[in-house]
Amino acid sequence: MLNILPGALFLAACYSRGTAAHKINVKAPEHLPTGASEPVDHAFASFSWPETKAIQILSPKTSSTFYTRRPARTPIFGDRAIYNASQAESIVLSTESDNGIPLEVSLGPVFFEGFENFPGTPWTFQVNLANNKSNALENALAEAKVALSHIRGDLYAFEIGNEPDLYPGDVRPLDYTVADYVKQWRAFADAISNEVLHGNQYGLEDWKLFQALTFIFYFNGFSTAKAFEDGVNADGHVKSVSWHQYASGNQDWVRLQESFMNHTLIASNLTQYIDDMELIHANDPNVTFLLGETNSDYVNLNMSQVEGVFGSSLWLVDYLLYGMSLNITRFNLIQGTTFGYAGWTPVEHNGLAPQVRAPLYGQIFAADAIGRHPTVQVKALEFQRDDLSAYAIYEAGMLARYVVVNLDEWNSTTSYPRPSQKFEVDVPHHSKSVEVRRLVGPGASADTGISWGGLSWNYTDGRLGRTGKRQVEVLRVSKGTVALDLDSTEAAIVELRHM
Ligand SMILES: *[C@@H]1O[C@H](CO)[C@@H](O)[C@H](O)[C@H]1NC(C)=O
Ligand SMILES: *[C@@H]1O[C@H](CO)[C@@H](O)[C@H](O)[C@H]1NC(C)=O
Ligand SMILES: *[C@@H]1O[C@H](CO)[C@@H](O)[C@H](O)[C@H]1NC(C)=O
Ligand SMILES: *[C@@H]1O[C@H](CO)[C@@H](O)[C@H](O)[C@H]1NC(C)=O
Ligand SMILES: *[C@@H]1O[C@H](CO)[C@@H](O)[C@H](O)[C@H]1NC(C)=O
Ligand SMILES: *[C@@H]1O[C@H](CO)[C@@H](O)[C@H](O)[C@H]1NC(C)=O
Ligand SMILES: *[C@@H]1O[C@H](CO)[C@@H](O)[C@H](O)[C@H]1NC(C)=O
Ligand SMILES: *[C@@H]1O[C@H](CO)[C@@H](O)[C@H](O)[C@H]1NC(C)=O
Ligand SMILES: *[C@@H]1O[C@H](CO)[C@@H](O)[C@H](O)[C@H]1NC(C)=O
Repeated sequence: MLNILPGALFLAACYSRGTAAHKINVKAPEHLPTGASEPVDHAFASFSWPETKAIQILSPKTSSTFYTRRPARTPIFGDRAIYNASQAESIVLSTESDNGIPLEVSLGPVFFEGFENFPGTPWTFQVNLANNKSNALENALAEAKVALSHIRGDLYAFEIGNEPDLYPGDVRPLDYTVADYVKQWRAFADAISNEVLHGNQYGLEDWKLFQALTFIFYFNGFSTAKAFEDGVNADGHVKSVSWHQYASGNQDWVRLQESFMNHTLIASNLTQYIDDMELIHANDPNVTFLLGETNSDYVNLNMSQVEGVFGSSLWLVDYLLYGMSLNITRFNLIQGTTFGYAGWTPVEHNGLAPQVRAPLYGQIFAADAIGRHPTVQVKALEFQRDDLSAYAIYEAGMLARYVVVNLDEWNSTTSYPRPSQKFEVDVPHHSKSVEVRRLVGPGASADTGISWGGLSWNYTDGRLGRTGKRQVEVLRVSKGTVALDLDSTEAAIVELRHM
């Protein structure tokens, strides 16, 4: 179907019409192809919180609420936090800077009780390495000890330090190098192993239980290669390597179509880690690689209209799925009440009631794309297109479903009708029909009216309330294919049915 378009939008119109007229074939082998990912962790789309924000999530006094299909692996980080065993308050903060992050944080023992509100949820806890006072190690050990006493067997790892590539000239002298970092990191890991984890009563491994690096930029000579060359894993303490990534800041060029709704850019933000992952695995095949702190924007100011909207839900879908396809093992999506990309705000903020925000839908969608089968693998399908992407998802080596994302930006204020893209989806011959669920919203810039498979979520009476009615379309297979139409700015999961 061609749309009749106003002349003023000629360029955009040609583009949309061009995409709409042409049928796109989505196909993948029935059996797991080479190059598909390793099995995906069901907690792939997890969360991370700065300690300053965690309090709103952990505290028994606030009615916080969050959502995952499976327990998320959730790190808490606080390279600014100092533990004070005699502090009665849970947390004492200095004044917040503009981006909502205070510079000084002091934690009392009560803070750690909050972990007990989430039994069965694996946590990574960050121990302070930035602290340059003479008792830094002693303080870190006390912090690790109290954290372990509340997280117990749910501790996935201790992470030591935060973005040490930013330490030189800040919390360390200007000539601080990767070798200096590695030396301190190993000393901290040794001490925590010997004095906190050794002989623990929770059955936790006491040696290989640390998350390393957490670099954010390739600044100051910091790189994965250099850290391994300098021996970060020489003692075998490294369980996982984390990098931090923010796709951008709040630069003028940050938009939806040109940035967050551009598959080419999303892919290039992630393929840059392939060499690092190969290097890590050559060093030790058991060390995993993850983005331990990630989201769309490292500035966190004035970007809600781009980040807190439906177009960014689709960014998140593509970002997560592409990351799975590359064997990145987990994305810990950073959350905070004041952040433009936050999936939800658990407390009242700026006069607004607690609520679910658009990006959460991307995370729920990704959880359902993974599903519940124990062995799920993902293959990205290549179209050489900025504005669409698709993935084949395998269960026990057999094609189980497709994810298709139409990243063509359309708003309810766009002055031409919403274009639709036709797909021809290949289906193995034993499937006679497929089930389609759609992630839809009124447009890329909308922050309300979003639904996934007919369902919507919001804060209701202190919990995550669900509204709507489950909607699944059953499409018949004809000559081995299914005809699927996806409107601009929409995503779907096409589930094969074995009947
Ligand atoms: C992911 O791992 C699988 C299985 O080891 C491998 O075949 C594939 O090439 C890897 N993908 C990337 C991007 O390295
Ligand atoms: C720790 O907290 C106690 C009680 O509030 C306070 O008196 C003390 O100064 C704090 N210690 C540090 C190092 O801030
Ligand atoms: C220690 O950290 C403080 C900031 O927290 C910084 O002002 C000071 O220069 C640092 N000291 C060294 C030796 O880097
Ligand atoms: C997407 O990003 C690529 C790479 O920077 C760029 O060439 C292309 O123009 C962008 N596409 C859109 C639709 O903005
Ligand atoms: C992500 O891609 C954008 C567009 O190319 C680029 O400007 C940005 O630096 C990339 N971010 C990262 C962390 O690679
Ligand atoms: C990786 O883990 C497996 C299973 O625990 C173990 O047998 C193997 O020795 C480990 N490999 C290395 C290089 O540590
Ligand atoms: C951007 O955010 C800051 C901090 O919240 C605020 O002071 C400023 O007015 C905002 N600027 C615009 C243009 O909205
Ligand atoms: C959608 O709306 C945003 C914000 O008003 C605007 O910047 C963008 O150009 C619009 N996109 C389209 C395709 O109309
Ligand atoms: C979610 O609930 C909040 C608080 O009641 C409300 O302001 C917001 O409009 C609701 N959002 C949606 C999408 O209905």
